[in-house]
Amino acid sequence: MPVAAGDLTRRRGEYGVDAPYVPLLMASGAVAAIAVFFIGFVVSNPTIGIPALNIGLALAASTADYLYASRVGKFVVWADILRSLHLRGDERVLDVGCGRGAVLLMVAKLLPRGRAGGVDLWRTTDQSGNALEATRRNADLEDVADRVELDTADMRALRFPDETYDLVVSSLAIHNIPDSVGRAKAIDEAVRVLRRGGRIVIVDINATREYQARFRERGLVEVHLRSLGPRLWFGGPWVAASLVEARKPA
Ligand SMILES: C[S@@+](CC[C@H](N)C(=O)[O-])C[C@H]1O[C@@H](n2cnc3c(N)ncnc32)[C@H](O)[C@@H]1O
Repeated sequence: MPVAAGDLTRRRGEYGVDAPYVPLLMASGAVAAIAVFFIGFVVSNPTIGIPALNIGLALAASTADYLYASRVGKFVVWADILRSLHLRGDERVLDVGCGRGAVLLMVAKLLPRGRAGGVDLWRTTDQSGNALEATRRNADLEDVADRVELDTADMRALRFPDETYDLVVSSLAIHNIPDSVGRAKAIDEAVRVLRRGGRIVIVDINATREYQARFRERGLVEVHLRSLGPRLWFGGPWVAASLVEARKPA
């Protein structure tokens, strides 16, 4: 049965906050700067107070922007991306760095006769409350546990055979690998497990040009990179997510 448009973004699970220390630092900075503004106000020193107020308001706006992107924007943007793929419903899909399942479980809803696999190391610095059990609980809450498989593994060394998946997705995960050699390995692994004719769709905040170049080096076709707009600005336009997609030749 096809999933109604609204159903994709209607969430029953709890998906945490991406890199939670980032909004925490920004919010702490905002509070500190606004405190300095009040001190400047009390001691009648506008040369301290006015710049501090501006910094405080900018940091507060960045915090709100970040939380919107992580808690709302990501789901809206991915729902659009996944609908645009026009899946048949019987595909095998892998989410690399699935975390608590924001994208994994959304795509699983589009696969009534398919399978959705998620691979992760469940790092809580990268997502609050990150744990295999949290993702499994979300799969139950979203009513897709029957078609979801979770695996604890590094995305640079996947355990799956070559050409297993029709579609590989990844959301805000590959940039967490600190070095370009490691990121290239993750891309190579995603390409390896993709079947001929299959697609890869990656959304990330850094290194997307690197992924694009690697796809081309590996012989993928229909390689496109595009910006995803303000709904995925993590604190402002200087940390904006982009989409990279490609197809493995048949
Ligand atoms: C910002 S979270 C995003 C999670 C999920 N894709 C989402 O959009 O909600 C990044 C995820 O990448 C995972 N991760 C980081 N490095 C990884 C690696 N080398 N292999 C597998 N997963 C990794 C983290 O554990 C975390 O779950």
